Amino acid sequence: MSKQLIRAIVPMPVRAAVSAWRKREKVYWSWGRAAAAAGNYSSGKLTAFRVERSQKILGREELFLKPSDELLLAMDSAAGRFVDFGGSAGEMCTVLQRRFPAWSFAVVETKAMASASQVLRPSISFLDEMPDEIDVFYSSGTLQYLANPNDVWRQALSRTTSFAYLARNAFSKRKRFTVQTSRLFDNGAGPVPEGFEDMPISYPHQTLSEATVIKIADKAGFDLAARIADRNGGVTGTNGKVYGADLLFKRR
Ligand SMILES: C[S@@+](CC[C@H](N)C(=O)[O-])C[C@H]1O[C@@H](n2cnc3c(N)ncnc32)[C@H](O)[C@@H]1O
Repeated sequence: MSKQLIRAIVPMPVRAAVSAWRKREKVYWSWGRAAAAAGNYSSGKLTAFRVERSQKILGREELFLKPSDELLLAMDSAAGRFVDFGGSAGEMCTVLQRRFPAWSFAVVETKAMASASQVLRPSISFLDEMPDEIDVFYSSGTLQYLANPNDVWRQALSRTTSFAYLARNAFSKRKRFTVQTSRLFDNGAGPVPEGFEDMPISYPHQTLSEATVIKIADKAGFDLAARIADRNGGVTGTNGKVYGADLLFKRR
C-alpha cells in the first residue's frame, strides 16, 4: 500500500500512535542482550572524538562544567585523594584541581579513554582500575553504563575514607535494560572538532535501584548526607518510571 493511500485512509491519531509505538524504547531481558544489540563505549571513533573535543576546551573547562555545591561540601579537608570514576578526559578533575591544588586527582576510565587522555591533562592520573585508596569518590552518569554497577559501587566504597558522590543517576523501581542511542556530536562539550562525521552511537544502559545503592552504602559504613531530587541529567529515553537524584554519602 502506498504511503499516500495509508495517509488517506488511516486517521491521524492512529498514525501518530503507530509512529510512537515504532519509536518506543526497546527493553531487553538482560544486560547481555542489551549489550549484544548495542555498540560499546570503547569504540575507537567515539574515544578519538571525545578526546579531540576535550582538547578544544583545555584551559577553559570551567565554562562547560561546574561542580555542584554538594560536591564542594565533600572537599572539606586541606588535602586528599579525589577519584572521578567515568570522568571522561578529566574535565571535572581539572576544574577541581584549580580550586584545590593540594589534592591529588585521578580519573578511572576505559583503557582507551584513559590512555588517550593522559597526554592531554598530565596533572591528572588516568587509570583503568579503581585505585586502592580514595578520600572522595565521585561518579557522574556512569554506573548505568556498566555490566555490574552494584559491584563497582561496593568496591569504590570499600576503598573510600570520607565521601562518595553519585551524580546524574538513572534510577527506577524495576530494573530496565535498554540500548541508548545518541549522536556522536552529542558526546562531550565544546566546539565540534574537524574531521568527524556525525553518526548514531549506541550503548547498553541499565537503571539502578536507589534503595539498593543506599543499602550498599549503609553496609559499607556510609550515611546518606544529602539527596538532591530531580537532578536527572543521567536519565535517558522517554520512560517516566526512570528518575534522577544526586546522592552524597559520608563515612560514619
Ligand atoms: C555518559 S559518560 C559520563 C561522563 C561524565 N562523567 C559526565 O558526567 O558527563 C559515561 C562515562 O563512563 C565511561 N565508562 C564506561 N565504561 C567504563 C568502565 N568500565 N570504567 C570506567 N569508566 C567507564 C565512559 O567512557 C564515559 O566517559
